Amino acid sequence: MENEITNARNSFMSELQGAKDAESLESIRVKYLGRKGMMAGFMGKLALADKEKKPALGKELNKLKLYIQEEINRKKDEFLADRDLESEKTDITMPGFFRESGRLHPLTGVLNEINDIFISLGFQIAEGPEIEKEFYNFEALNIPLEHPSRDAFDTFYIKGNTLLRSHTSTVQIRIMEKKKPPIQVIMPGRVYRPDAVDASHSFMFHQVEGLMVDKGIRFTDLKGILNLFTKRMFGEKTMTRFRPSFFPFTEPSAEVDISCIICNGKGCRVCSHSGWLEILGAGMVNPRVFEMVGYSPRKFTGFAFGMGVERITMLKYGIDDIRLFFENDIRFLKQF
Ligand code: DAH
Repeated sequence: MENEITNARNSFMSELQGAKDAESLESIRVKYLGRKGMMAGFMGKLALADKEKKPALGKELNKLKLYIQEEINRKKDEFLADRDLESEKTDITMPGFFRESGRLHPLTGVLNEINDIFISLGFQIAEGPEIEKEFYNFEALNIPLEHPSRDAFDTFYIKGNTLLRSHTSTVQIRIMEKKKPPIQVIMPGRVYRPDAVDASHSFMFHQVEGLMVDKGIRFTDLKGILNLFTKRMFGEKTMTRFRPSFFPFTEPSAEVDISCIICNGKGCRVCSHSGWLEILGAGMVNPRVFEMVGYSPRKFTGFAFGMGVERITMLKYGIDDIRLFFENDIRFLKQF
């Protein structure tokens, strides 16, 4: 066994010499000092050695073990010292990078919510041009030239009969011209009106138009869809109220109110102490509009609605000035 110990020492020394990096050093360590390594083997044999030889052999083995340990550590330090420390230097005093993450404009966020609700109810999304022909903004929607309701939808004229659309109802016509029923679509977009800017008026704002046409669509379908929408948008407790109204493109027409989300219908400053807030216009598509796009009013019925995105966003977040949406003031935008 003495010979074996000497051989082990010699082979260790030459292997150590050949070690080129920390990895090969580690495999040498495992080979000699590991749990199933050479030294462990010697210890096993020691137990079986002659009784009188044991102390000397034991001493010899311990010496070798210590020697191996020390040599490995020394080599390890050598490798460490050889590393290119300069290239590994980290300046921990350097200031960190901070990337401010962007966020959605509140109108975009609310528009996404509106879209999601209607998509979940089977509606598709469509868009139409903001620069429009007069025909789509008026005549096709049953608003003849001399009709007084033209005033309500007055807009910016560009040239001749080209204008900026004053409502998204124009897109209803564009869709029905292209496609036969069934139609179930919402149409979000910007609209323009020559209003003086104040806390509740802007010359540009956003609407979402809705249209559903098929055989046998009834007013109760409109009520069902809008009730569902207002509950999802403003909370389960929200109630709706349909008030008779007038729009040239629907018959009958209604204005739809929700129970005031601030006071729950008790009456407060926001709802002018009425308990109700108006959020959109709606109705059954006027047969005259169907005729304009070549649908048979005897065959098809449908409902339509239009809502203002700014108004809904203001109600949802308690914003009291529409101008805040368009001023790009980061202190406002950061809150959403
Ligand atoms: N276009 C109307 C407006 O801008 C809103 C509206 C009312 C749209 C009734 C509709 C509707 O589709 O049926 O005030």
